[in-house]
Amino acid sequence: MPSGKIPGDLSIMDVGSGDGRYALFFAKQGFKDVTAVEITSAGANRIRRNGSGYRNLQVLQENALNLKRIRGYDKQYDVVLSSGMLEEMSSQEDQRQAVTNLQALVKPGGRIVLRYCLYISDKIPPARVKAGFVQSLFPSEQWQIIDNRTDPEPFENKKASVYKGISRIQRETIVAQKK
Ligand SMILES: C[S@@+](CC[C@H](N)C(=O)[O-])C[C@H]1O[C@@H](n2cnc3c(N)ncnc32)[C@H](O)[C@@H]1O
Repeated sequence: MPSGKIPGDLSIMDVGSGDGRYALFFAKQGFKDVTAVEITSAGANRIRRNGSGYRNLQVLQENALNLKRIRGYDKQYDVVLSSGMLEEMSSQEDQRQAVTNLQALVKPGGRIVLRYCLYISDKIPPARVKAGFVQSLFPSEQWQIIDNRTDPEPFENKKASVYKGISRIQRETIVAQKK
């Protein structure tokens, strides 16, 4: 997290929030301003239900590709997080647009955290976010990559295997700070 701030002072946006496991965690921790963005009504409604009572939580049903249309788009966050969303996008152009939209939502000095799958064996094509692609979207004049870790090798994804046979998955995480 950006230095000099305690967590409670931070604003955070979680894009592709799913059932809100991260957004709800941060809201419950008392972060002052948590925004969950989820494209599905089922997901957004579930987060609203589970997060009712948290006045620091806002839930938006919106497409990450259209975030520019959100009223108040000029608002920026200390932390913008997205986990498990990029690989669900059908083209590299959409992935690029989503990352660009997320980058615009980060305050100067704030951080973006992206976690995505490089590889899911039961999807075709199997590599869903091309290795090195996300890094290429963070020019060093504007961003400092402060962490970048890749699973050393694909691991068995037991959840997927329940309905699709054994699946192997390889994830990567990148954390970058806006200059
Ligand atoms: C694999 S889930 C991950 C959920 C959550 N971030 C987590 O890590 O538990 C990916 C989520 O991204 C959402 N999603 C996919 N494309 C999206 C888009 N274009 N805009 C917003 N959300 C999207 C999906 O509906 C799904 O809930």
